[in-house]
Amino acid sequence: MNSRRHFLRFLAASPLLPRAFGQTAANVLSVMDFEPLAHDKLPPAHWGYMASGVDDNLTRDLNNAAYKHIELRPHRLVDVSKPDLRITLFGAEWPSPIFLCPLGGQKMFHPEGEVAVARAARSKNALQILSTQTSASLEDVAKALGRPPWYQLYMPAKWDDCEKLVRRVEAAGCPAMAWTVDTLGGRNLETSTRLARTDTRDCLGCHVSAPGGGTARAQDHNPMFDGLSSNTINPAFATWEHVDRLKKLTKMKLLLKGIETREDARLAREHGVDGIIVSNHGGRATEDLRPTIESLPEVIDGAGTQIPVLIDGGIRRGTDAYKALAMGAKAVGIGRPYVWGLTAFGQDGVERVLDILRAELQRTMQQCGTPTIAAITPSSIASTH
Ligand SMILES: Cc1cc2nc3c(=O)[nH]c(=O)nc-3n(C[C@H](O)[C@H](O)[C@H](O)COP(=O)(O)O)c2cc1C
Repeated sequence: MNSRRHFLRFLAASPLLPRAFGQTAANVLSVMDFEPLAHDKLPPAHWGYMASGVDDNLTRDLNNAAYKHIELRPHRLVDVSKPDLRITLFGAEWPSPIFLCPLGGQKMFHPEGEVAVARAARSKNALQILSTQTSASLEDVAKALGRPPWYQLYMPAKWDDCEKLVRRVEAAGCPAMAWTVDTLGGRNLETSTRLARTDTRDCLGCHVSAPGGGTARAQDHNPMFDGLSSNTINPAFATWEHVDRLKKLTKMKLLLKGIETREDARLAREHGVDGIIVSNHGGRATEDLRPTIESLPEVIDGAGTQIPVLIDGGIRRGTDAYKALAMGAKAVGIGRPYVWGLTAFGQDGVERVLDILRAELQRTMQQCGTPTIAAITPSSIASTH
């Protein structure tokens, strides 16, 4: 009996044992604990695609590192017995400021992909933004979510296609559309390409062409391009004039995702944009070495007080979310963390990631004497540099 117990203990500690063995989503302790679980489950090409930043991944890593230079300033003896994490965006109320960023091709990580994420978002009443590169159709995601998601636009190169796509998004009832403007000049997802080259599986079983060369990913069927004349997106010729065109085209709230400077935030406001997402695409756009939390103050300054500024990039703890809120973000997006959860446990994993971050944020709010989101202000934090 004793030796059996020893043997089981030895097994549990062994690096040879799959890390997910005996593990359920419910007993994962922190968001970062999902990362190795997801890594174990994915082939190198898919892992590489998710993990990759551009060039040397420096901007990707700085996004999170920057939060470690911001301190909290707890205020004591405040009644924090009724914490309230609610926020309102464009008239809609959400129970928490943490939202799910648009991430393309989620069936690469789990067979149910975006639909499993939608079910999790439904059960937790979380804001989901659906990518144009989604592997499940917008309509199927809306059904699983029980309401239309926000939509993330990658602009089709041909304006006729853009109009068709926007009409489809409107017909699905999406209240808001975020146009991602940070990848119009092309990018170098080098880690993704490197890892795809190490993948020895027969990729042609799933893909129409094998990854490993060039851009690393095959252009497989994308349900959002059905009925369009081409699947070419992100025209390098796009300018602020296209913002005006989009504003004219649709009544949906229009956000720009990927804004990092005061100047661009001011232009966005002048062109009638309804909201901004400060983002560097999780370090997947430009190796500009600017963590999004450092860009946030100047973007808020340029945007003025009338339009909401949201942020994503490197948020891994409730304290990170708290710091972004203290610096004026209206909502805080997560990308890779929920896909780690999806990969490891499907819908349950996404729910657990949301639960962990909400619980951490709530505890931080209570411990810092700020029981509501409005109570979190610049005096809640201090900077170490
Ligand atoms: C695998 C992957 C796919 C992504 N796909 C998209 C996309 O289709 N559209 C988009 O606007 N952003 C996309 N992003 C960027 C995310 O929306 C978000 O800005 C970023 O993941 C936030 O950083 P985080 O991963 O550190 O939380 C993607 C990010 C990753 C990691």
